[in-house]
Amino acid sequence: MSQLKLLNIVGARPQIIKASAISRAVRLQFSEEIMELTLHTGQHYDKELSEVFFDELEIHKPDYNLSVGSARHGKQISMMITGIEDVLLKEKPDCVLLYGDTNSTLAGAIAASKLRFPVIHIEAGLRSFNKSMPEELNRIVSDHSSTLLFAPTNAAFKNLMNEGFRPENSPPYTIDNPKIYLTGDIMYDNSLFFAELAERKKTSLLEQLSVDREKFILVTIHRDINTDNIKRLETILSTLKSIAEENSITFVMPLHPRTTKSLKTSLKELNEELGLCKYIRMIPPVSYIEMTLLEKTCRMIITDSGGVQKESHFFKKPCIVLRKETEWTELIINGTTKLADADPEKIRNEFYAFLYSDSGLEYPGFYGDGKAAEFILREILFLFGEKLADKNYQYQGS
Ligand code: UD1
Ligand code: UDP
Repeated sequence: MSQLKLLNIVGARPQIIKASAISRAVRLQFSEEIMELTLHTGQHYDKELSEVFFDELEIHKPDYNLSVGSARHGKQISMMITGIEDVLLKEKPDCVLLYGDTNSTLAGAIAASKLRFPVIHIEAGLRSFNKSMPEELNRIVSDHSSTLLFAPTNAAFKNLMNEGFRPENSPPYTIDNPKIYLTGDIMYDNSLFFAELAERKKTSLLEQLSVDREKFILVTIHRDINTDNIKRLETILSTLKSIAEENSITFVMPLHPRTTKSLKTSLKELNEELGLCKYIRMIPPVSYIEMTLLEKTCRMIITDSGGVQKESHFFKKPCIVLRKETEWTELIINGTTKLADADPEKIRNEFYAFLYSDSGLEYPGFYGDGKAAEFILREILFLFGEKLADKNYQYQGS
């Protein structure tokens, strides 16, 4: 039997983490049926944003790395498209798997759909309804370039229907007759898989950071609206510092390099004050298993990350989001995640509300059963596997 040739496209930290769920399922359940190839665009290149995950999560290592690096979006995306196109023409995969909403996702969607390779979008249908956010356009274009769309939540599935995707479409599926699914979230697959391992392998991190379980706050900040708008970054960090001092609570902050850069170049004084504050631990990005341990053992999470918001729910932690809106609307409706933007009063109010009354909060299973990757691969095999004999089915470009 010939194998299905599946090309993963990744580039940024969360995509490598998401792809690990698929990679693990291929390795454990479908190694005979599926041949996995991985293309890394090189959007993230620092060891702690990329390599660490391939090592730690035992993911299929990239077969291609385009080493595109950082650049203005247009330039970055165009270099990615050129490189992805070359690989597609050489490898002629049966389908192309895209994750999330980064520039690497968009580049993969454009390159593959233009050459008429079937695109499969994992984490389809998410919308912030804020097109000034770079990820929003990436999501819309990627979804509308796809043949199979795997929505992780009810809200995402509904968004797709509102944009004209029809659940009743029947095969054969194409870009003009796409299939939408409600699958659950592959990030939940990962959190379930690694939670216990994190306790076994990484507990010493808590000692290194001198923090006690359930007694520290975990913070991540990396969105461009917060890092590149220096006023917002200053407001957020000085508010968090004063809350930490008022309550003698430690705030652990694994910072994305762009946040550290902004602090070092534009907020030197505040950077020094934060460095001297005994309640603030600014540290480089941590590995996924370390992050899992921090999420599992903290008291509360404050973040602008999409993935970390969901992980707060997986680990039953209240979460304050440093944005005006979120794509994970079920968390807001549930009351366990609050939107505080960069507003000092909102951040304070939500922090104290959670600090004093989080015992009654509930964390229903919005994100599936932890087997989303298996479901996705079974569907892909079912729909594309039978076409393997006829390679012209997927490739009609020139
Ligand atoms: C990207 C994604 C964002 C995602 C995030 C995950 C886009 C538009 N944004 O944001 O959706 O939430 O990844 O972390 O795709 N940098 C480094 N080292 C690196 C990579 C980047 O220092 O390895 C710095 C550079 O100064 C660079 C800046 O971070 O200019 C921004 O990098 P970029 O990949 O454009 O966006 P992210 O903020 O990482
Ligand atoms: N993460 C990590 N180390 C860190 C910060 C985040 O491993 O120092 C993980 C986190 O657990 C989640 C993913 O990175 O799985 C989220 O990625 P990020 O916040 O960069 O992007 P987003 O989800 O907002 O696109």
